[in-house]
Amino acid sequence: MGHIPKVVCLNGNGIGQYCDVVRIPRKGETAIPRNLRYVQDSGKGVNNAIVIGRLGGDVAYIGKVGKDDGGALNESWLCASGVNTEHFWQQEGVSTSLGLILLAENGENMIINFDSPGSDITLEEAMPHLKACAGAEYFLTGFEIPVDVALTCAKEAHDLGMKVFLNPSPIEGAGDLPEIPYVDTMCVNEAETRILLEMEEVTDWEDAASRLCERYKVKNVIITLGGDGALAHGERGDGRVQGIPVKLVDESGAGDAFMAVVVQNLIWGKEIQEALDYANKYCAFLVQKSGTEGSISKYLWPEEMREVLEKYR
Ligand SMILES: Nc1ncnc2c1ncn2[C@@H]1O[C@H](COP(=O)(O)OP(=O)(O)O)[C@@H](O)[C@H]1O
Ligand SMILES: [Mg+2]
Repeated sequence: MGHIPKVVCLNGNGIGQYCDVVRIPRKGETAIPRNLRYVQDSGKGVNNAIVIGRLGGDVAYIGKVGKDDGGALNESWLCASGVNTEHFWQQEGVSTSLGLILLAENGENMIINFDSPGSDITLEEAMPHLKACAGAEYFLTGFEIPVDVALTCAKEAHDLGMKVFLNPSPIEGAGDLPEIPYVDTMCVNEAETRILLEMEEVTDWEDAASRLCERYKVKNVIITLGGDGALAHGERGDGRVQGIPVKLVDESGAGDAFMAVVVQNLIWGKEIQEALDYANKYCAFLVQKSGTEGSISKYLWPEEMREVLEKYR
């Protein structure tokens, strides 16, 4: 029998590639990319797992990548961060999803996402791995894998006794999300809150959180508010943190980190308010780091986190 982790992550992966161009190509123009390079960027599932692994958590990632450079890099990052990879594999004949980012001399950028056919994990592939993790305490998922795979596995994880954390992103409309009573905690940002409540403007975020619980039948909601902090509402209790004033450099990967850090804090036995506080400090520090090497390169190790907790006492 394999190892039973405390946390199981099932969501997207991928590989980021940067290149420099003189300018963003106009219609009909051929771009000449220079210095094509891989960066430490993947998907939300790998991000969640790495954040928890680096904090010393016992976490497994369920997913498949291609048998290519990008797949091998994902494997090396997971392993180096202490993530259990028993349920992760590189598959022949599949290419790892690629995000290509063109960086122009004037600072503009253009992102092209290549979603390769066959790279999405299927329900038939995911389910046995999930079941092999029965006994785990938390299950983290989201919509960078097909929605039906994420939700069917979320329901199964719930039935196996895991607490399900769902980040329903990316999402285009409220109609894409049914009632999900098997979800313990839904984690969303401001834009996702507006979409899911079909509201143009939200002013009262506490009220929005309780509306989300009611409408989607989830037990708890966490809303992250960028530079304004975050809040939690639901059966676990309510909590609120104000944003820490910092010089914003690169926000990417902060939402993924926030959810994962909260989960690891709950595993450590913290109450929700303490968990939000810790995640808010972690992320305030994170967004001050440059993203030129990719989001994964920014995620914190315990030593650095100790300094952060000292700094933002
Ligand atoms: N400009 C900022 N200043 C301080 N903290 C920030 C800033 N932007 C993000 N954060 C922290 O990162 C968390 C997640 O950011 P947010 O932008 O809400 O998520 P997402 O990446 O999903 O859009 C916030 O709740 C906050 O703790
Ligand atoms: Mg944001």
